[in-house]
Amino acid sequence: MSSAPAIRLVGVEKSYDGVAVLRGVDLEIEPGAFLSVTGPSGCGKTTLLNIVGGLDRRFGGRVEVCGCDLGHESDASVAHLRRRRIGFVFQAFHLLDHLTCRENVALPWFFADGDLHRGAALRRADEVLERVGIGARAGDPPTRLSGGQKQRVAIARALFHRPEVILSDEATGSLDAATAQQINDVFVSLNRDDGITFLVVTHRERAARQAGRVLRLEEGRLIEAESPEAPQ
Ligand SMILES: Nc1ncnc2c1ncn2[C@@H]1O[C@H](COP(=O)(O)OP(=O)(O)OP(=O)(O)O)[C@@H](O)[C@H]1O
Ligand SMILES: [Mg+2]
Repeated sequence: MSSAPAIRLVGVEKSYDGVAVLRGVDLEIEPGAFLSVTGPSGCGKTTLLNIVGGLDRRFGGRVEVCGCDLGHESDASVAHLRRRRIGFVFQAFHLLDHLTCRENVALPWFFADGDLHRGAALRRADEVLERVGIGARAGDPPTRLSGGQKQRVAIARALFHRPEVILSDEATGSLDAATAQQINDVFVSLNRDDGITFLVVTHRERAARQAGRVLRLEEGRLIEAESPEAPQ
């Protein structure tokens, strides 16, 4: 029997104040796949990602992530999924300037469940910072880092609890093209070498194609994006 998809959406619908944004989104992402979603501003990409990430549970249709049925599970199960099995990376880095990078990575977990002591959390932070190539800056505050370096710290924070899935909303949106490519390479390495499943919203379609399949959100549905050779 083939394994269950990491992410499965069937007929997902979402409206704001009676205006439909998602109009029946179907999607299956196999474990270990890398899928990018593009589309014009306002088409509903963040709306879609927030639903998949369990941040917005008011939707129509069916959403399953890591086997968890988001429309029907308890709030506690969805919170557990969000905190333990999914990693989030956003355009804004959301780092605290008065802490070191190491503390930024470990911070969310100082307060989580008490199953990790502070020392162990900081050691794990060093491990994931190393993994994304920024281990040497673990003791610096984020204010001393470039945008690309800050995003590596944010990725390390998402990796802390060994997520099965990473959801990323324009993680390279505020970076120059070369730095964006480096961050994309980090994602690709985490996908290929660590087997993490990726669902990524991006405007950088060429980099997205190097990573895997690209879909386009258009008129509330996901369609195959046209080939990059097509004239703009
Ligand atoms: N909380 C909200 N309340 C009302 N309308 C909203 C809300 N969030 C988003 N919308 C609307 O839903 C539509 C989709 O928004 P969304 O943020 O998902 O777009 P997007 O594709 O992520 O755009 P961008 O590329 O600019 O980030 C937009 O028309 C937006 O105005
Ligand atoms: Mg958005």
